Amino acid sequence: MSETTTLIWDDQLLLGHAPMDELHEEFVGLAAQLQTAQDAQLPQLLEAMEVHLKHHFAEEDQWMNTTSFPPRDCHIDEHAAVLKSVAEVRDLLNQGNIDACRRLITALVEWFPGHATHLDSALAHWMSKQRFGGKPVVIKRNILSQADA
Ligand SMILES: [Fe+2]
Ligand SMILES: [Fe+2]
Repeated sequence: MSETTTLIWDDQLLLGHAPMDELHEEFVGLAAQLQTAQDAQLPQLLEAMEVHLKHHFAEEDQWMNTTSFPPRDCHIDEHAAVLKSVAEVRDLLNQGNIDACRRLITALVEWFPGHATHLDSALAHWMSKQRFGGKPVVIKRNILSQADA
């Protein structure tokens, strides 16, 4: 039997943008349920994953569009490609193809850390910069020297 990667939620996966971190924790929880599911549970859990991913990706796509995140096209394309695979495998599973579903679960678990590290983290960083408006932080020393003057 080949070794299976397991995704466990921990602080290393936190990207510092709370709504995104919540989505990612939810993803990791659903992935863990899928990995340990009996065959009979797969249709219901895969559907829950598909619902989750549609919401997860729609949120991120919207954040990218509303903040004009410069490299958004490749990130949005990757979301669309994942959703397409999930929809295809959902149909295969409905025809009784358990193996296709198991392969998809492994692929999702292997895909997520790289996506989060390379694409989602850049978006989280960009949004936190937007939140502070690019304005310099007031330095206390300057305030004090002005007060002294
Ligand atoms: Fe994400
Ligand atoms: Fe993403």
